[in-house]
Amino acid sequence: MAAVPPDASSLPRHVAIIMDGNGRWARKRHLPRQAGHVAGVAAVREIVRAATDAGLQNLTLYAFSSENWKRPPTEVGALMGLFRLYFRNDLEEMVARGVRVRIIGNRSRVATDIRQMIEEMERRTVGNTGLNLTFAFDYGGQEEICAAARELARAAKEGRLDPETITPELFATRLFTSALPEPDLLIRTSGERRLSNFLLWQSAYAELLFVDTLWPDFTPEKFLEALDQFARRERRFGSLPEAVA
Ligand code: IPE
Ligand code: IPE
Ligand code: MG
Repeated sequence: MAAVPPDASSLPRHVAIIMDGNGRWARKRHLPRQAGHVAGVAAVREIVRAATDAGLQNLTLYAFSSENWKRPPTEVGALMGLFRLYFRNDLEEMVARGVRVRIIGNRSRVATDIRQMIEEMERRTVGNTGLNLTFAFDYGGQEEICAAARELARAAKEGRLDPETITPELFATRLFTSALPEPDLLIRTSGERRLSNFLLWQSAYAELLFVDTLWPDFTPEKFLEALDQFARRERRFGSLPEAVA
């Protein structure tokens, strides 16, 4: 299988990943769920390295959904502790690798110290021109779309916007992802086949790839295989392939 990244012309511009299966990975080993999350962070580190090595421009990772607050407090606490460790330990490597980090999601529900770490990461990497690495953290696609609609409705009510001028392009400028191209490839690990409220608007024409591998077992080699599969997909965007047209 592909051990080398596809050439630049067939690389997706933006890969988004639903990193799922940490809990099942731990259960298979008779370990607490938290151990699965620890292993999951190690996989994040490896995939970020592989993405920079492959020359990928945009990578978005679903780290915590707006619905994940429903999990038991001990698990939420363990996850927040891991985010703290990751943001603290990996910042220097991101800076050194030229990675620009962004966080999308609802920051108001996150602990103050984590919010400060996020702001520091974004500030320290703002000038970097390598991989755009985005973490979806306390993120929900429906919430994001509602917030954009609310903002446009407010502008219309205050007379700053003519509702007739609202287009998909204008709408997209009000989303968290306004600085990023739409994902071309959306991967979900662990065998589940659903979006779980991830990038609902942005994934309109994403190629979906569901892999059975649990997230902690998702190696750089498997990531390169996914890029290779993408390179062999035929994308149509509602039109017809060139040969037929
Ligand atoms: C993904 O793994 C990590 C987060 C959602 C934070 P899960 O914790 O959902 O693992 P499973 O789905 O229970 O195996
Ligand atoms: C989606 O996974 C969220 C993240 C990977 C961060 P979940 O495990 O929370 O999704 P459901 O509950 O199985 O749909
Ligand atoms: Mg899950």
